[in-house]
Amino acid sequence: MRYLTFALAKGRLAKKTLGLLEQIGITCEEMKDPNTRKLIFVNEELKLKFFLSKATDVPTYVEYGAADIGVVGKDTLLEEGRNLYEVMDLGFGKCRMCVCGPASAKELLKHNEIIRVASKYPVIAKDYFNNTKNQTVEIIKLNGSVELAPIVGLSEVIVDIVETGSTLRENGLEVLEEICPLSARMVVNQVSLKMENQRIRKLLADLNELISKEA
Ligand code: PRP
Repeated sequence: MRYLTFALAKGRLAKKTLGLLEQIGITCEEMKDPNTRKLIFVNEELKLKFFLSKATDVPTYVEYGAADIGVVGKDTLLEEGRNLYEVMDLGFGKCRMCVCGPASAKELLKHNEIIRVASKYPVIAKDYFNNTKNQTVEIIKLNGSVELAPIVGLSEVIVDIVETGSTLRENGLEVLEEICPLSARMVVNQVSLKMENQRIRKLLADLNELISKEA
């Protein structure tokens, strides 16, 4: 039996995923050592490997088959646009992709004005404005703390993730339009799904059962 390899997005999503996997009997003791400097972890008995990577790299590892299975946010999947199968909504990490800004920017979204849009997600932002709204905009790519952009005058609005809404509130901004809901998704390499069909189907069935029980 060959190893099945999981790529998990570092941070909260990985912790949640490992918790779910543990409940269906998939554990990785090696990974629990907080002082480890190892990058890849093995469960010899079940012939599984796990590694953590930056969220934006998870779809890349899965598309190329360096990982068979990945867990990553829908935001990253939409932005990266990789060829892979999205097989399950894991139901956690729920948030929304939104157009946000000061209340005064609402008008600018109504009248097809040429505005500047700052975002960590230029592909999602461009697709939304060009294809859903048919509004010509200038997209400015940022790498974090995007809420700063309308405050300091870099852009009129932003496209960003809203979870609790507190970052917006504390900075005098609000949701102006909702683009789409987001959550953690399981993705599978297209060849792996064929070659390791039984093992992957069993994993998905077990996870499905667990998630529907929890819901
Ligand atoms: C994300 C997102 C918002 C914030 C939303 O940022 O980009 O800034 O969380 O959460 P809230 O609605 O609960 O306030 P993150 O913490 O990942 O940091 P970054 O903006 O520096 O990337």
